[in-house]
Amino acid sequence: MSRYLLAIDQGTTSSRAILFNVTGQRVGQAQQEFPQIFPADAWVEHNPDDLWQSTLAVCRRVLEQTGVAAADIASIGITNQRETTILWDTETGEAVYNAIVWQDRRTSKYCQSLVDQGLSETVQQKTGLLIDPYFSATKIRWILENVAGVKERAQQGHIAFGTVDSYLLWKLTNGRYHRTDATNAARTMAFNIHTQKWDEELIELLGIGDVIFPQVMDSSDDFGIIASEWLGAEIPVNGIAGDQQAALVGQACFTPGMVKSTYGTGCFMILNTGDQALTSEHKMLTTVGYRINGNVTYALEGSIFVAGAAIQWLRDGLKLFANAAETESLAQQALNADTVYLVPAFTGLGAPYWDPDARGAMLGLTRDTSVADIVSAGLRSVCYQTKDLVGAMAQDGANFSTLRVDGGMVVNDLVVQFLSDLLGMTVERPQVTETTALGVAFLAGLRVGIYDSLEQISELWQSEHKFEPQMDEASQDKLYQGWLDAVRRVRSN
Ligand code: G3P
Repeated sequence: MSRYLLAIDQGTTSSRAILFNVTGQRVGQAQQEFPQIFPADAWVEHNPDDLWQSTLAVCRRVLEQTGVAAADIASIGITNQRETTILWDTETGEAVYNAIVWQDRRTSKYCQSLVDQGLSETVQQKTGLLIDPYFSATKIRWILENVAGVKERAQQGHIAFGTVDSYLLWKLTNGRYHRTDATNAARTMAFNIHTQKWDEELIELLGIGDVIFPQVMDSSDDFGIIASEWLGAEIPVNGIAGDQQAALVGQACFTPGMVKSTYGTGCFMILNTGDQALTSEHKMLTTVGYRINGNVTYALEGSIFVAGAAIQWLRDGLKLFANAAETESLAQQALNADTVYLVPAFTGLGAPYWDPDARGAMLGLTRDTSVADIVSAGLRSVCYQTKDLVGAMAQDGANFSTLRVDGGMVVNDLVVQFLSDLLGMTVERPQVTETTALGVAFLAGLRVGIYDSLEQISELWQSEHKFEPQMDEASQDKLYQGWLDAVRRVRSN
């Protein structure tokens, strides 16, 4: 009997493969970074072949390291950086351009023209999204319009579109399946989240009707069987979900009102709203949390574009430290932590501002500002942005008192305590912080009968630490007002 679940987590800065046993314990992990391509101001690309090769490499490595045979893997789940857009030629199997990454802002003028045409409401009603370069649809259009020959190939019916999950599934199944799941589809700005179908009207309006869109499946479904040449056995893929939605599942937020926040490259807070697709009045997105047995669980999402990426910039751009693990002790030495602010609007501002043309800034600098102060400001920027989201969700009527957190940054106790202090809320860290990978492993396991129900999965979730707020309200408020002031200064709209 097969005993393992393999989660592929294809993220923005690295590809990872994590092997779980059936109780959700991690038995092995392999990770590989790949180059980030910045061809112009606020453009971000990945080479699709890097995504594919690094994914394959980590899958092979985790099997080698653990000695687990491919035949002992019951199922594979794929979770991925969302919105990132790949077009490929179905005859040659080659991508026609680099993947345009979710962070890329090249279509901001075109998006503004859509807003100016008065389309915001239609787009929000159909897709739950706000018009922004973040989502896939305008990226598809950019490739069609700007890469020689692609439009013609599309007109001949040879160009497929996919988010990264879809592209990897196509590769792993040697081009047999062109599929995605509802959570990924919901991030394209071309999918109607109410009918659960591609929206022909929007697709025509955006001029992307000649592209072949993937078949949209449940998040826990029979996506296809990978060819044996890749890992040494034919293995079914039974889970696909965008990484943030996978984390919602990995955090076992299955009841309306439960909320999680994941700190990876960006930070994404997702609130389960059950079978209700709530429309936000405060610039949150309405999205699909997961779709199982055809039943959609909706969610409200606050998306922040730069969280861990700010720490990466402090490390690789400014070279203030060599390893992210040093940030906790560095920040402890900060003497001006309360007055130095870093607004990491490197690729504009996401929720709740949606200002693609804003750019980053550091404020409150004096002669004695130290590296420690700047590092602390970087860490705190992530907490301030989270407070922006909690505030917007509260204005939308969400009422929660505990936030479940996960992702690379939450190993840092100082950050999580500051978050709890600033929010005035209990912040809970789970035992397994790899909740993205765990979530998609759960979705795969659910389909193949390793788990019977979401209730059973809930029982596997365990808290590791509860952080309780220790800051008085006046201090919270003073710090937060300083942040709001800093944000005001970088905004373009
Ligand atoms: O929407 C973008 C998101 O899916 C990227 O996630 O983990 O790469 O920051 P991450």
